[in-house]
Amino acid sequence: MSQAEKTGAQTEPEIRKGLVGVVADATAISKVNPESNSLLYRGYPVQELAARCSFEEVAYLLWHGELPTPEQLSSLEAAGRGQRALADNVRAAVDLVPTTAHPMDVLRTAVSVIGAADPAAEDSSPQANLDKSVRLLSQIPAVVAYDQRRRRGQELVPPREDLGYVENFLHMTFGEVPDAVVVDAFRVSLILYAEHSFNASTFTARVITSTLADLYSAVVGAIGALKGPLHGGANEAVMHVFEEIGDAEKAEAWLEQALADKRKIMGFGHRVYKHGDSRVPTMKAALDTLVEHYDRPDLAALYDNLEAAMTSRKSILPNLDYPSGPAYHLMGFDTATFTPLFVAARVTGWTAHIMEQLADNALIRPLSAYDGPPERHL
Ligand code: ACO
Repeated sequence: MSQAEKTGAQTEPEIRKGLVGVVADATAISKVNPESNSLLYRGYPVQELAARCSFEEVAYLLWHGELPTPEQLSSLEAAGRGQRALADNVRAAVDLVPTTAHPMDVLRTAVSVIGAADPAAEDSSPQANLDKSVRLLSQIPAVVAYDQRRRRGQELVPPREDLGYVENFLHMTFGEVPDAVVVDAFRVSLILYAEHSFNASTFTARVITSTLADLYSAVVGAIGALKGPLHGGANEAVMHVFEEIGDAEKAEAWLEQALADKRKIMGFGHRVYKHGDSRVPTMKAALDTLVEHYDRPDLAALYDNLEAAMTSRKSILPNLDYPSGPAYHLMGFDTATFTPLFVAARVTGWTAHIMEQLADNALIRPLSAYDGPPERHL
């Protein structure tokens, strides 16, 4: 690289606002192909993983590059099970955050406390970072479940070691394991949300990691990036839109007004996919099973009408947040808990990227073009 390239001393720098189209690095973790409308995790189509794998198997795949053998899976499950209980200091930290705060703020705070209390926080060896990743995988559901329960005035539910990750997450949230159809829809959603290349929150985690800050700092930053409604916050925002519309018959008129008001319609559009989000058909199928299970054709009609109106009016297609928002609603989660559920899934992808970044690190530091006042003097 020439000195001019290093310092950006060329005459007319090209600005790619929002880094649109910029390839920032290579990754072996996932491949998003908007042309073939596919998403591969370590080479496997996400639809196949959602059809055949547990969430823990997918976490292992993202971290290690291969699906686990039965022994490797048992060992990961055993390590995770032992860390499912909400630690006293983390519970105390959660209790300090007022329930007027968003659950994402609670989760961001809790992960910060989990990191601060880890004596190995600054150990960035691959094994230490894997251990931290398993800890977060296990602890985040405990925080999310407890936070929803305390907001409802309910007692904490201790974990059950005899259950798998997905069943235990639901048990700690609702005090019981729901029907298999609900468990399966939740499992599918977590697998679909687990990883998506250099999205905003993952890139945030990689930027923080590139400074050689610890894994917890990178995850805390990623949670902040995911909170926004243009990213993970959209699954919650979709449900607010549904509540605002209220009735399937009003969807078209609502959309006209919203577009006239220059509003972004939550759950539609994507920076990378322009011909549809590869994850939507699988999540829509899971939503359909929930609609049938809970007998909610009204919700399905609202979903269909808004999608049809948006497609014919703007040709903008739904993203994963569009079916997952109503799916989480039907499962019984509070709307404000939807984005923390996204965190519970995406922490697997984030931590895989943190480890990949560290294995071949270069400080991420782009340039800027100055457009302020010319040099002047006091
Ligand atoms: N509603 C209305 N118009 C939209 C929407 C939308 N959801 N999405 C894109 N557009 C329009 C834009 O207004 C713009 O129109 P213009 O050219 O007339 O100005 C055009 O489509 C291109 O949109 P951009 O915003 O430039 O596309 P970009 O790639 O920057 O944005 C984004 C992608 C942020 C996801 C956008 O589609 C959006 O805001 N969607 C709603 C939020 C959302 O659902 N986010 C979830 C993302 S997926 C995930 O996190 C799982």
